[in-house]
Amino acid sequence: MNKRAYAPIGIFDSGIGGLTVVNAVREALPSENIIYFGDTARVPYGIKSIDTIREYALEITDFLLKRDIKLILVACNSVSAAANNEIRRHCGAIPVLDVVEAGTKAALEQDSERNSIGVIGTLATVGSGTYEKSIRAIQPNKKIYSKACPLLVPLAEEGWYNNEVSELVLKKYLDDFIKLNIDSLILGCTHYPLFKMQIEELLNGRDTIVIDSALSIAGMAKELLTTKNLLNPAHEKGRFDCFVSDKPQRFQALAERFLGEKLNKIEIISLTS
Ligand code: DGL
Repeated sequence: MNKRAYAPIGIFDSGIGGLTVVNAVREALPSENIIYFGDTARVPYGIKSIDTIREYALEITDFLLKRDIKLILVACNSVSAAANNEIRRHCGAIPVLDVVEAGTKAALEQDSERNSIGVIGTLATVGSGTYEKSIRAIQPNKKIYSKACPLLVPLAEEGWYNNEVSELVLKKYLDDFIKLNIDSLILGCTHYPLFKMQIEELLNGRDTIVIDSALSIAGMAKELLTTKNLLNPAHEKGRFDCFVSDKPQRFQALAERFLGEKLNKIEIISLTS
């Protein structure tokens, strides 16, 4: 028996978006212990420079490594876009999976009659061209249409999804995609699955699959842990420990609403002191 199997999985994001990944991982791997970090003091990441996002990402990676995790899931597309290689280098032998590779994999597994994919994400993610690179590395001839939707992260952090304000904002952002003939639309920001129902309704009748990389990364994590003989063998539900960099009360209310359960105390951690 591999003793490391009992170690937790580290998952992080700028805020509540990464909880979409937590949800999917807890569904796929219920006995795993999870340590989550939401950088609530510095959210949103998507409007910041690549250098700044990279610096934040490495601080959080250090925090998780100190907690002896067995796997890191980068549950933030903006971080994946800014610091994928650096995080992997930093982690050495600890495996890392990220949402951009997961989203790419899920999109390329879909039927591709029209040979075209849409991507929505933060300014950092779309500006970096990370999805174009990762999709074209596998299928060079794909047509890819990307659009930054910067207002969606503040709306999600405010808990404003499935309401009339998000409806209006989504209509404005998705107008182009409603006209374009795309096979799938990648939700290239982990906050966006909160709007998935509304997005699917807006694209209704278009025969476009909406890709949530959270489901895909959870499947990849299960596969990786199985291959490495690192699946937690416990029979009881795994622990979920949550850390943030500011205002845990607010995060707690949003997280409990989203995860549909009461959470243990959420701790504030300062990464910079
Ligand atoms: N949820 C993150 C992402 O996937 C970050 C959003 C933000 O903080 O702007 O890009």
